[in-house]
Amino acid sequence: MNETGNQDTPEDEDPENPPQGDDKPISLLPKSVLPYHPRVVEPIDLHVDLSVGVVLGRSESFHRKYHSGGLGMIGGVTETSDDVLTSLMGMPVLLDLMSPHVIFVAGKRGSGKSYTLGILAEELALAMERREIEVAAVVVDTVDVFRQMVDSNDDQMDVLTKWGYEARGFPVNVYIPRRTYVGLPDEVKKKARLFPLSIGPKELTTSDWGYVLEKGGSLSTVMENLIGETLDSVRKGYTLESGEYVKLKRDFSIKDMIECIDSNPTIIEFYKPASRTALIQRLRRADRLGVFHPGGTSAQDLAVAGQITVIDVAPLGSDAEAVLAILTNMLCRQVLTYRMAWTDDGTSAREELPPTWLIIDEAHTLVPRSGLTPAKDAIVSYAKLGRRFGCSLVLCTQQPSAVSDEAISQADIIISHSLSHDNDIRALQQRAPAVMPEQFRDKVFISSLPRGVALVFDQATENKRGFIMQVRPRLSQHGGTDRLSGLFEAVKLLMPEDHEEFTDVTEPEEEVTTGGEVEELEKIEETEEEFAEDLPEVPRPPLKLSKEDWQVLDGWMREYVETLFEEQKQEYSITDEASPRVEEVPETEELIEPREVQIESISETPIDVSKVLVKTFGPVSKDLLSKATTRKILYSHSSHDFLFTSKDDHREVVIIEREDTAPSDLIGWVAAGIDSTGLEVENLIHEDGFTFVCFRKEGIRAIFSVGASQSLLVLPIVIVGIDRKHIITLADKIRSIFHAST
Ligand SMILES: Nc1ncnc2c1ncn2[C@@H]1O[C@H](COP(=O)(O)OP(=O)(O)OP(=O)(O)O)[C@@H](O)[C@H]1O
Ligand SMILES: [Mg+2]
Repeated sequence: MNETGNQDTPEDEDPENPPQGDDKPISLLPKSVLPYHPRVVEPIDLHVDLSVGVVLGRSESFHRKYHSGGLGMIGGVTETSDDVLTSLMGMPVLLDLMSPHVIFVAGKRGSGKSYTLGILAEELALAMERREIEVAAVVVDTVDVFRQMVDSNDDQMDVLTKWGYEARGFPVNVYIPRRTYVGLPDEVKKKARLFPLSIGPKELTTSDWGYVLEKGGSLSTVMENLIGETLDSVRKGYTLESGEYVKLKRDFSIKDMIECIDSNPTIIEFYKPASRTALIQRLRRADRLGVFHPGGTSAQDLAVAGQITVIDVAPLGSDAEAVLAILTNMLCRQVLTYRMAWTDDGTSAREELPPTWLIIDEAHTLVPRSGLTPAKDAIVSYAKLGRRFGCSLVLCTQQPSAVSDEAISQADIIISHSLSHDNDIRALQQRAPAVMPEQFRDKVFISSLPRGVALVFDQATENKRGFIMQVRPRLSQHGGTDRLSGLFEAVKLLMPEDHEEFTDVTEPEEEVTTGGEVEELEKIEETEEEFAEDLPEVPRPPLKLSKEDWQVLDGWMREYVETLFEEQKQEYSITDEASPRVEEVPETEELIEPREVQIESISETPIDVSKVLVKTFGPVSKDLLSKATTRKILYSHSSHDFLFTSKDDHREVVIIEREDTAPSDLIGWVAAGIDSTGLEVENLIHEDGFTFVCFRKEGIRAIFSVGASQSLLVLPIVIVGIDRKHIITLADKIRSIFHAST
């Protein structure tokens, strides 16, 4: 099997072009996998490479350099056109994974968004297996749908076979809340590739605590002050009534915080017992979530080069959002900081964290349009700055109108499944980074897109308009419906639920867990505690940050960087030097070569055939070769300007195909044939390896151009003019001269 999906299936094999060795021509996807394929009136104009398919997120010049390298097959074009020649129906769609992107995935409930995110994760994993890219991908998941990527998608074998794929799982690492992790049997942990997830309490700011302790983040001012003071005391150390000094801690637990509230004389003096009790209650509840723990999971654990990591916080139920927001905040800030800084002996600060793809499902909860979450500013900064340092962001939501516009406006690619609310449709229309055909604006149309079908918009100038795509089937499993989900539920039942906020605090804390579980938890706690205390200090080399990058950072982000390096005891300086850019991602602009367009006047016919360039393609089918050459004539600026002068123009296309014929013979013959109808050669336009041979007579214009693939030559003639009848008659005449087909 070929994992880019461009493989022959019995249904789409072209009998005239049998596959030859390894150099198979690209095949269109069979109609049977594209059941929904509406007709779209506006001509489709996309970046097509006939040896791979439609290319998203890449300029032509970038693509010329890397060809099929670093592309991920995400689906197929599923729209038909009045013009069979230019239709791209069935063409595979490939997304660039080599350069950084901000991708926005939208769609109503159940439309297939999370499934599509899974496709992106699979393609990142496949491209890494092929050693075409090396990144870290972190998928943040509140609803338990990505964990099963470890299993193969055996439920959709039939459809996978039709697409030419085989089901398979991927070795993703799955981080689940530490408490849930501890409650699971070893063999399950191993098989499902589970790891314990925890957050060091020191990572949380006062407002983060507000968000965790009071859903919605609105703690009373007293409580907020109290938590602030508590954090300050445990960080700096404080003196007890007895005179004993509680020394400062590099890392601390919720228990340390509770102890401080209970015994720090300053706090006891200034805060009423009721306030202290209330805060302690809430801290205990947060502690029971089993995720806040010293020496928490670090950004370095989660963002690992070559690895797909899923953070599955679904077992936390209604607390999942707060935990995820804090984690995402930490991840975004650390990835940005470390990608931005470098050392003099290379770029080793960057080695701490690789270029990272952050994939966020249910993004409206983390980056809402209105209101704040602990992650909002960090995600917006990541969206704005990440690309400078090779980092990508994928945001997914069912409510585009509820996601921060600052984040969506950074998207260079939008994939929208079905939407039904006016606000959401409007949000999409405002942000689509490519032309949106009239038809796509219709509410009935967009709300009736079937599951797994999406409208795709790409900012790359080569992909001028949005188009309809069928998302490919998943190789690995989607959704959390396995035995493990049942186990998650079971573990949750074993965990003490603390619904009452103000139970009697004087009662000793009792863990309602099984004996073995508590033991294991304690064992882990002990080793983690040791780990946190005894970690030897390793001197870190001084870091540099470029002034240019520093200046674009928001105030809070600068503050964060300062604190982070201070804590790490790592020196840093802001320099005038430019930051060394990530090498594997060349700047697109530098690669764009000016297109050479030369126009040559010809006074006499027949033309000098040696001047006509023949564009040579790799091994492709006759059909695709005709389409590509015709599209070039229709859509290149120079030829388009020559042919089309009014919106009432009618066009006819005559295609001449020959095998084993010398190009010069064919060109001479066709030029003479057209000449015999009274059309006269006006000039030759050379562009991108093609030559457009231009003819004119009164109100009629015509162009031919030649494309070649192996021993095959294709020569489309496009004839244009206002007088429809006249054009049809002329086209028929030319057809009869050359015995050509339409
Ligand atoms: N391209 C596809 N091919 C086949 N099945 C699909 C496809 N996309 C989605 N599905 C199926 O449709 C169902 C819903 O998909 P998914 O979970 O991705 O929806 P969603 O848009 O994320 O919904 P929600 O808003 O509830 O999160 C799943 O059972 C999934 O297997
Ligand atoms: Mg979903």
